[in-house]
Amino acid sequence: MSLNMPSSAILLLLLLPCSFTAISAHENEDATIKTMEDFSGYPFHESHSTSQSHTTVSLLSVETQSLQKQIDELSTYSDTPAPSVTRVLYTEKDVLARRFIKNLMGLSGLSVREDAVGNIFGRWEGYNPDLSAVATGSHIDAIPYSGKYDGVVGVLGAIEAINVLKRSGFKPKRSLEVILFTSEEPTRFGISCLGSRLMAGIEALANALKTTVDGQNVSFLDAAGSAGYTKHEDALLSVFLKKESYSGFVELHIEQGPILEEEGISIGIVTAIAAPASIKVEFEGNGGHAGAVLMPNRNDAGLAAAELALAVEKHVLESGSVDTVGTVGILELHPGAINSIPSKSHLEIDTRDIDEERRNIVIEKIHRSAIAIASKRGVSLSEFKIINQDPPAISDKSIIEAMKASSKELNLTYKFMISRAYHDSLFMARVSPMGMIFIPCYKGYSHKPEEYASIQDISNGVRVLALTLAKLSLQ
Ligand SMILES: *[C@@H]1O[C@H](CO)[C@@H](O)[C@H](O)[C@H]1NC(C)=O
Ligand SMILES: *[C@@H]1O[C@H](CO)[C@@H](O)[C@H](O)[C@H]1NC(C)=O
Ligand SMILES: [Zn+2]
Repeated sequence: MSLNMPSSAILLLLLLPCSFTAISAHENEDATIKTMEDFSGYPFHESHSTSQSHTTVSLLSVETQSLQKQIDELSTYSDTPAPSVTRVLYTEKDVLARRFIKNLMGLSGLSVREDAVGNIFGRWEGYNPDLSAVATGSHIDAIPYSGKYDGVVGVLGAIEAINVLKRSGFKPKRSLEVILFTSEEPTRFGISCLGSRLMAGIEALANALKTTVDGQNVSFLDAAGSAGYTKHEDALLSVFLKKESYSGFVELHIEQGPILEEEGISIGIVTAIAAPASIKVEFEGNGGHAGAVLMPNRNDAGLAAAELALAVEKHVLESGSVDTVGTVGILELHPGAINSIPSKSHLEIDTRDIDEERRNIVIEKIHRSAIAIASKRGVSLSEFKIINQDPPAISDKSIIEAMKASSKELNLTYKFMISRAYHDSLFMARVSPMGMIFIPCYKGYSHKPEEYASIQDISNGVRVLALTLAKLSLQ
């Protein structure tokens, strides 16, 4: 824990070359160098020995035991038995888990604040606090019967990344912030990435939340109020981030896919997050007795749904790209009896692509198919509703560079990849340059109790995050 002056100096000097080129065009060059020199106790120019750099980077050490202990302890704030984790927005367990995180932020010397919906911010003030901050973070809510690493690695890992930098003696120029996002999972109110969407300033969401209720008819505002957050709809607008609050945002996350583990690679550098969309469709027909109504006289809402499901697959494949995907994850028939022709069918369709236009063409084709199928089968298309249609996010070039340089300096293997799941980063990208760091997870499992990432892989991710934050802070 003690501040080791020589190693601090080396870390600073290591970080300087990149910051120096970035800063040199500006007039505050001298001041910056002076601050560096004051802090390091060494003249800036005597710095660049490569053998020293290697030692330095190895000084970015993660306290793996305490990090693992925190992950384990956080997982006990759950409404289902271990190894599963269930932590739903604004429940008692969620409130306790939030308290645990705020406490850790405090122990790391961060100043903690919360917004009206419970996004939590822990700030380490930089020596140039007028500059926009660099942020990192993720979520800790967990869908029913899921695991203990999704999101958590990016929150506890972020706090540990701050600790790593503090132990190394690093001083940030831009402030560094750890963010815990409210309700990344849609479990309670059907809205994913609720906190980050609001932070990104989506007014339609702020309006919708005024009347949103959960499955028990508890309103969002009442639920937020019971967890100690806002009861007042006007406060929702205060969650919107001010322009240029952040000069960069980086999220550390388990891959939730098998690629890194299969290929034995330590770090995934995310270059883009696929654009998700979801659609609700309903067909209605006359139904009737499965024996009495003869085939020519039927208008079967179930068959319309089946045909549309196949059309989704066809339109997705027509795009010709492996990046286009479509899924009918919900298909319900009413009344759902073996001897009754379905009079009503309900489908929910998820489609994603890294290319927004290509994905929108798929949505348009699905819509045309739904109309054509309804007309051909004599059923009515009683609903075709696009629930969300988000743009993709492209990672920022300079953040990709910082993540890549950090991986290299830490001697870790890395690979560029696309995030096919979406994260709070998708929405942070609307208000800040964004990047994501993936780490391997066991068999790509996620959203189930078997979800697992080794503490070694987590620790690698934390070190890449720490070094990336340090570089971005000095830019
Ligand atoms: C990086 O990895 C190589 C190959 O495993 C090893 O020889 C080298 O010592 C490592 N360098 C550092 C700084 O860890
Ligand atoms: C939900 O609550 C509101 C307000 O308390 C009430 O007016 C409404 O009837 C309730 N709806 C259901 C389905 O219980
Ligand atoms: Zn997640």
